[in-house]
Amino acid sequence: MSAAREHWGSRLGFIMASAGSAVGLGNIWKFPYMAGANGGGAFLIIYLGCVLFFGLSLVMAELAIGRATQRNPVGAFRTLAGRGWSVVGALGVATAFVILAVYVVVAGWTLAYVVLMANDTFAGVDVEQSRQVFSSFTSSTFMPLLCAAVFTVGMVTVVIGGVAGGIERVAKWLMPLLFVLLIVLALRSITLPGAGAGIDFYLWPDWSKVGPDTWGGAISQAFFSLSLGMGAMITYGSYMSREQNLPRDATLVVGLDTTVALLAGLVILPAVFATGFQPDEGPGLTFLTLPAVFATMPAGSLFGMAFFVLLAIAALTSAVSLLEVVVSYFVDEKSLSRIKASLLCGLIVFALGMPASLSQGVWSDYTIAGKNFLDAADFISTAVMMPVGGLMMALFTGWVLGPRAVSAIQSYSGQPMPLAGLWLFILRYVAPLGIGWILLQGFLG
Ligand code: PHE
Repeated sequence: MSAAREHWGSRLGFIMASAGSAVGLGNIWKFPYMAGANGGGAFLIIYLGCVLFFGLSLVMAELAIGRATQRNPVGAFRTLAGRGWSVVGALGVATAFVILAVYVVVAGWTLAYVVLMANDTFAGVDVEQSRQVFSSFTSSTFMPLLCAAVFTVGMVTVVIGGVAGGIERVAKWLMPLLFVLLIVLALRSITLPGAGAGIDFYLWPDWSKVGPDTWGGAISQAFFSLSLGMGAMITYGSYMSREQNLPRDATLVVGLDTTVALLAGLVILPAVFATGFQPDEGPGLTFLTLPAVFATMPAGSLFGMAFFVLLAIAALTSAVSLLEVVVSYFVDEKSLSRIKASLLCGLIVFALGMPASLSQGVWSDYTIAGKNFLDAADFISTAVMMPVGGLMMALFTGWVLGPRAVSAIQSYSGQPMPLAGLWLFILRYVAPLGIGWILLQGFLG
C-alpha cells in the first residue's frame, strides 16, 4: 500500500493544500465571532500565544508522524506504537465526521449567500433587514439542506479526484485570490465611519474580559484553525516527500493561516461596530455584518459575490482535508476503493449534517446539554475532541517517539534539526500541561 501511495505534485502544491486545509470557515466565519465574544484584543493575544506555543509544534509533530509512516492516522499510530495508540487515530477519524457535520451546513450558507448577493438581495439593507434575511434563510427547512448537499457533492468530487489531481489543483489557484480580496475588504472596513471603536476593540486588549472561556475559546480556535488534533495534518504529511524541509514549510503554513485569521478579524470587527451590531452576536456575525458592508461599496453585490464564492472555496479546501482523513482510513485500513470510500463517507457526512441544519429551524427544540445539534456538534468537536486529540499527540510525539521524531523531521537534509530540544520540550511539557490546564478549567468552570 505504501509503495503506491500518491504524493503531492510539488512543494508549492503541498503548501497550498495544507494552507488550504488550515484556511477555511475557521478563519473567516469563526475567528471573528470568537474574538468578538471573548474580549477582542485579549482573545487575539491569547490566541497568538496558543498558535506560537502549541500550534506550530503540533503541526510539525503531525506532519512528521504522517510522513514517517505514510499512513492514515489510525495506521500511523499503529505502525509506530501498536494498537493501543491507534485509538488516538480513531478519535481523529470520529472527530472529522463530527466537524464535517457542522462544516457542510455553514459552507452551505456560504453558497446560499453567493446566490443572495447575485440577486442583489442586500442592496441598501440595514442591520435589521440583514438579520432578517439570515435568520429566515437558516431556519428554513429545504434550502439550507439543498445547499449543504451541493457542497457535499463538490467535496466528494474533489476527493475522488485524489491528492495531486483534485485537492492540489483547486487550492493552488484560489487561495491567493482570497487573500487579495480580504485585503481590499479590510481597507474598506477600517475606513467605514465608526470603525474606530471596532479597531480599538480588536487591537486593544481589555483584560477584564478574560475568563476561563477566553482561554478555552482561544485554544479550541487555534486547533480548529490549524486543522490540528484529529489527524488532518498526519494525512497530508503522509503524502509529503522526505526531501521536503518540514519545519520551514510547517512554519509557512501556520503563518499563512494566522495572517488570514488576523485579516478576517480586521474585516469583520470594525464593520461590526460601524454597522451597529454587537461583537458578541455569535455564529451569525460574518453573515450579518458583511452584507451591510457590501451595501456601502460601489459594485457591492459584485464584491459580495466574489467574497462568498472564495469563502466557499476556502471551505471546500478545508472540508476536503477533513474528508481525506476518513477516506484514507477506509482506503488503507478497510481496503475500499477511493471512489467507494469517498461516496460512502459523503453520505454519512450528509446524514450527520441534516440534523445540524434542521436544528436552526424546525428541530431547534431538540437540545443536548442545552445546545441545539449544530452548536453541540461544534462544541464537542472543537472544545473537547480536538484539544484532547492534540494533547495525546503531543504526549505521543514527545515521550513515545522522542528523538525518533527528531530524526524523522530532519530526513530532508543531513543537517541536525534546529531547535530540536525546544521542540521536544514543548511537546513533552508545555503543550500537555497547557492544554490539560485549559481543558480542566473548562470542566470545572
Ligand atoms: N482549519 C479549518 C478551518 O479553519 C477546519 C479544519 C479543521 C480542517 C480540522 C481540517 C481539519 O476552517
